[in-house]
Amino acid sequence: MKFVPLPNIADTMILARPVYTDDGRVLLNRGVKLKANYVRRLEAMGLPGVYVQRDGIDVPELPEPISAATRQAAIETIRSVFQEVRLGQTFSMEPIHKSVKAILDEVAADPNVLVGLNDVRSYDGYTFAHCVNTCVLSVMIGTKSGMHELDLRHLAIGAILHDLGKIAVPEHILKKPSRLDEAEMIEMQNHSNYGWQVLRQHPELSLASAHVAYQHHERPNGKGYPRGLKQDEIMLNARICGIADAYDAMTSARPYKAALHPKQALAEIRRLQGVQFDPFLTDVFARCVAPFPVGCIVQLNQGESGMVVATNHQFPERPVVRLLFNKIGEPLKNPYEMDLAEANGCFVERIVEDS
Ligand SMILES: [Fe+2]
Repeated sequence: MKFVPLPNIADTMILARPVYTDDGRVLLNRGVKLKANYVRRLEAMGLPGVYVQRDGIDVPELPEPISAATRQAAIETIRSVFQEVRLGQTFSMEPIHKSVKAILDEVAADPNVLVGLNDVRSYDGYTFAHCVNTCVLSVMIGTKSGMHELDLRHLAIGAILHDLGKIAVPEHILKKPSRLDEAEMIEMQNHSNYGWQVLRQHPELSLASAHVAYQHHERPNGKGYPRGLKQDEIMLNARICGIADAYDAMTSARPYKAALHPKQALAEIRRLQGVQFDPFLTDVFARCVAPFPVGCIVQLNQGESGMVVATNHQFPERPVVRLLFNKIGEPLKNPYEMDLAEANGCFVERIVEDS
């Protein structure tokens, strides 16, 4: 499976991962041949590219921490909250509670699912899907760090609303494909404060949740914003959301940047561990991510290569690989699966680069 920008799509290519509409419905399913009229539709939606099959190899369905129905409902909930706040109305907490409950229940039901590759999203779809993903990942980190149910709920509500303040940022700044200048950066950074102002006044929302919006860009080294808080001055919920937010942004393809692979994003967060990200929570977070997600083509140290077909939450670096090619890159007559958790001396040497 490889990511291909839309201008480079050929009509012989086959979609390896579903493409969703902005409101979370499946637009094109995996296995579909990418005809020119489909590509035009994807371009009109503002998608940067799609994942296609590599060498005609079918990709298994990717395990997700929450169901497609829960994701779609949560995206719709967030979209309407943004809309109501934009219109100056008070939003109802009921749909948020419902979505958050479904996310909490589903993550708790299978705590062993790891986070893999992100969906490809259009600009408009990005903001809402980003809120939902940040919430799911925050809940996974919170759960693995031993948080109690009530605290998890406050965390989840704060995380799903963490970027609500972006409604106060002018669209040309949000969509700017290049680096922001100083004045634009100030306007962008204002979203933390604005989100806090809206959420703290909501009669049914806890301050523990509102503070997530306020503090999710604070960093342990004191170089975050808006207040330059340090270390434990930043609430636990916001430190968790800060990691989830950064990871989701890094692994998302945008019109102006390619998505980082989960392993690269994890390495970047590790690099900033203790500086921009809480050291303990970074370790917990690393146990939530599949460095070699399902669908990814890897080469083993002994030279063969194949596709990851299952991840291992206890040993994320040791997935199950379906071996497809021999040491000199020829297709194997009889592909077979190897569980690297049980294969002594055998490990992933590298991710086979897209070419
Ligand atoms: Fe933010």
